[in-house]
Amino acid sequence: MSSPAASQRLAVLVSGGGSNLRALLDAIEQRPGFGGEVVVVGSDRVEAGGLGHARAAGIPTVTRTLGADEDRATWEQGLADALAAHEPDVIVLAGFMRILSKAFLERWPDRVVNTHPSLLPAFRGANAVREALAHGVKVTGCTVHLVDEQVDHGPILAQVAVAVYTGETEDALHERIKAVEHRLLPACVEALCQGRVRLDGRVATISPPPEAAPSL
Ligand code: GRF
Repeated sequence: MSSPAASQRLAVLVSGGGSNLRALLDAIEQRPGFGGEVVVVGSDRVEAGGLGHARAAGIPTVTRTLGADEDRATWEQGLADALAAHEPDVIVLAGFMRILSKAFLERWPDRVVNTHPSLLPAFRGANAVREALAHGVKVTGCTVHLVDEQVDHGPILAQVAVAVYTGETEDALHERIKAVEHRLLPACVEALCQGRVRLDGRVATISPPPEAAPSL
C-alpha cells in the first residue's frame, strides 16, 4: 500500500452510539499529522447516536435504512453511491452492524477497516462480548482489521487483550473493551492514512510513525 501524499478522506459508518466515531474525531483534532479527515458519516439507522456526533462536528451525514421488503444489493449500492459522492479514500466501520458485500468492498479495495470487540478469530459476529462471557474465556479484547468478504475475518491490523473479571456483566465488559477500541481504532486509521500499512497476503504489518524511527 503506497504512501499517500495528501490528507486521506474518511467515510465512517455507524449503527449505534458512535463512541468510536467520537474517539476518531478527537484523535484527528488532537494529532496535527494524523493525515486524514472525516468527510461523511453514514448509517443504516436514523436513530444512531453517531449521527449526532457527526452533526455536532459539522460533518455531512447520509442515512440509508434497509426496509423489510427492500432488495439488499440495491440498499447497499445506494449507501455506497451516497458515500462515493464525498470521494472517500478509506471507509471506517465504527460499530456498523451490517455485512458489506464484495460489490461494496471492490469500490475501496483494502481500504475498509473495522473494529470488533473480541480477539479474532475468536467470537466473530454481532454478539462477540456475550459469547466470550458464555464461553468462560479469561481474556478477550478488541481487533481492528481490514474488511474482506467474510464476517470479521480480514487482515488484522492490531489487537489488544482485555482481562475478563469474575461475574462481570456483558455491558460492563463491553464498556471496558470500547475504552481500548477508542485508542486502537484511531491509531490504525492513522497508520492507514499515513501509508504505514503493508500487506503480505493476509498478514498486515504497520511500520512505526516517522518520529518513532531511530535517528541515524
Ligand atoms: C464497538 O464495540 C464495536 O466494536 C462493535 O460495536 C461497538 C460500537 O460502539 N461492533 P460505538 O457505537 O462506537 O459506541
